[in-house]
Amino acid sequence: MALRILCILLAVSLLASPLAADHPEHARHAMVAAQEPLATDVGVAVLRAGGNAVDAAVAVAFALAVTHPSAGNLGGGGFLLLRLANGESTFLDFRERAPAKSTHDMYLGPGGKPTGDSITGWRAAGVPGTVSGLETAHRKFGSKPWAELVAPAARLARGFPISYAFAKSLESHAELLNRFPESKRIFLRNGKYYEPGEIFAQPELRRTLERIARGGAHEFYEGETARKLAEAMEANGGLITAGDLKSYRTVERKPLTGAYRGYSIITAPPPSSGGVGLLQMMGMLEGTNYQDNGAESAAAIHFVAEVMRRYYADRSEYLADPDFFRVPVSRLLDKKYIAARRSTIQPGKASTSAEIRAGNVALAESSETTHLSIVDEKGNAVALTYTINGGYGCGVTAPGLGFLLNNEMDDFAVKPGEPNMFGLVQGESNAIQPNKRPLSSMTPTILLKDGKLFMVVGAPGGSRIITGVLQVILNVIDFGMNVQDAIDAPRFHHQWMPDRLYLERGFSPDTIALLKARGHTVDSASSVANVEAVVVQPDGWLAGGSDRRAHGKAAGF
Ligand code: DON
Repeated sequence: MALRILCILLAVSLLASPLAADHPEHARHAMVAAQEPLATDVGVAVLRAGGNAVDAAVAVAFALAVTHPSAGNLGGGGFLLLRLANGESTFLDFRERAPAKSTHDMYLGPGGKPTGDSITGWRAAGVPGTVSGLETAHRKFGSKPWAELVAPAARLARGFPISYAFAKSLESHAELLNRFPESKRIFLRNGKYYEPGEIFAQPELRRTLERIARGGAHEFYEGETARKLAEAMEANGGLITAGDLKSYRTVERKPLTGAYRGYSIITAPPPSSGGVGLLQMMGMLEGTNYQDNGAESAAAIHFVAEVMRRYYADRSEYLADPDFFRVPVSRLLDKKYIAARRSTIQPGKASTSAEIRAGNVALAESSETTHLSIVDEKGNAVALTYTINGGYGCGVTAPGLGFLLNNEMDDFAVKPGEPNMFGLVQGESNAIQPNKRPLSSMTPTILLKDGKLFMVVGAPGGSRIITGVLQVILNVIDFGMNVQDAIDAPRFHHQWMPDRLYLERGFSPDTIALLKARGHTVDSASSVANVEAVVVQPDGWLAGGSDRRAHGKAAGF
């Protein structure tokens, strides 16, 4: 009898768990999920020493600039979303800005054709925001001395063992890095590529970090670092001047907020397109019971893909730097508008992107990035995504400074109506203007359940960030997966143009056939974002998930 009951209980518990579970990392007090293990360890050490989530985020971001230079950076920009344990939240926008000398057609050559200068070389870089953003975060919310948070990065710059993944990443970007002597010398050892296990020392970067540890953001924007950077720009035909650096400011913005199926969502406002995207797509999904079709079913994928298609059409038209363009956020998130968009979705048939235009919203109202998610012992949470855009940015290492520069200028509509590096077709709203911030897809997001912290999430992945973050959240909320399973599950992506449904590996041929039968043009995607997330479990434990598509680590104590 007892055995029978045991068997029944076992069967029930097996049925209750959706799939064979891949376990997240568990910790009682605090957790860091970041895309490079040494940097994760730096964050955990700061938290163990009593630092708060912002302290840890600052230290991890500086460390990633050393150990994960394809994306971690001093020469780029990003967004930091913070929710304090007392319930307040804020958003720091330290996105790069177009240099003052920028012009609408600066990347168009004869015949109006894009020259590629927005992607590679000195002219591709926007004015970096990272050091300003990290200092602002620390000044307002940090608790440990600044120098203590920069120190671990400077130490790592003395040398750390190269991982297999990093060695391969450098090798695969050799063509780009080879074009710029300082990058070739530092990252490719002038052609004698680093082997896994060798020690990688970056003395120029170490000195830059030590100066920043002493002089803060002032050193980066007005000190020796600024002077050297501006001089090198001038000597190499770049656009960033001493004046651009001096006038750079981090902007504190109000996060966007919304709700989905009883969860509160706190997310990134413009100049991110991500928060609007997330909330609009969730709005279209809510109440449809699409999830009853089951995770990874063709019917569910179809419905979510149609939702994605509709949002990206709006993105192309209505999203941009809010300081330059009146982004109609509340119209785009209006319940009636969303219901009207939803009503054009047919469960059995794909729309074509040609027939889906951006919705009619009256303008009446006023291939490398990285993400870290952190929760500290008190329940403060940070979601930070920052980037130099492409892997190793524009390829240029600032001479004598040791850090790579971004190619964020390509996130503008270099030629409105034509696809950018991520195939995104964008409109005049996101055209280049001096001092403007290019539209971003970065989507650092925090979820609450019953007013309490539930999830911290975000990702790199270009235009696929928004859909990647969406799917991980849906996997947790709608399909009951643990955070690691939610991240591991195969993902898909649709961005309106090109009219393609991109699928990662892992969907069954039967599912793909059903999607094709509905009229989708299916294509393969090597990956749809790399997600780092932390979930607060009902028992109070923290569960950390780190994307197996990348080489990061979740850890805590
Ligand atoms: O801000 C953006 O949307 C892009 N610059 C992000 C680039 C990115 O995620 C590339 N990484 N894979």
